[in-house]
Amino acid sequence: MKKLIVLTGAGISAESGISTFRDAGGLWDEYPVMEVASHDGFMRNPALVHSFYNQRRKELLSCRPNAAHLGLKELEKWYDVHIITQNVDDLHEKAGSANVLHLHGELMKVRSMRDESRVYTLTPDNLETSPETRDKYGDPVRPHIVFFQEPVPNITAAAELVKQADILVVIGTSLVVYPAAGLLYYARRGTPIYYIDPKPAEIDMPNLTVIPEKATEGVARLITLLQNP
Ligand code: APR
Repeated sequence: MKKLIVLTGAGISAESGISTFRDAGGLWDEYPVMEVASHDGFMRNPALVHSFYNQRRKELLSCRPNAAHLGLKELEKWYDVHIITQNVDDLHEKAGSANVLHLHGELMKVRSMRDESRVYTLTPDNLETSPETRDKYGDPVRPHIVFFQEPVPNITAAAELVKQADILVVIGTSLVVYPAAGLLYYARRGTPIYYIDPKPAEIDMPNLTVIPEKATEGVARLITLLQNP
């Protein structure tokens, strides 16, 4: 099967009711990003950061995968699909996608601050953490999120996936945050690239097809183009 590599951003979850970051009224209009989502912000005021992620977990509980997430699962009928997501929600997993690589962490997970290999998945009845929360070893925990000013551990694996792509699809990202935004340039010469976004960023790449639609409509269009290769 041909490898179909998909890079997703907040836009794919917009129609599930999760706000994006940089659209009008987005998360970074509402919250000071460097206070709630940066390493320095977490060191300065961990309680504020814990409550920011507690709030986002609560909101996620009422969100479901939309037709775009489900469409990417459908493409597994014809392709070896690997999703690289900048999103911290679990909607790709909930849609049943087999291969999901999170670049910026996972909202429903926290990890020990003493041993970062100790990662814990929170449950709907146990969503909230604070600076006082302790794991079973008595260690404090933090959101399993890549804060701004922190390295992106999965970027190397993500770049390897893009290098192997027979087709690359980009959905719902403003392509302003690196290193994620630089992944496109790992695609082999001649690889067809599809970019689904109602307000697409300017990309100067060959073999680019822009589908200026919302994710649900764009993925439906993509399936008609790519099904039964
Ligand atoms: N369908 C598809 N795309 C949409 C939709 C929709 N219904 N609504 C908005 N979009 C597009 C916007 O046009 C924009 O290009 O989604 C993109 C959202 O961009 P951002 O809000 O910047 O989100 P993203 O690109 O995922 O941000 C990257 O920045 O703050 C960090 O860690 C955070 O992972 C995030 C990273």
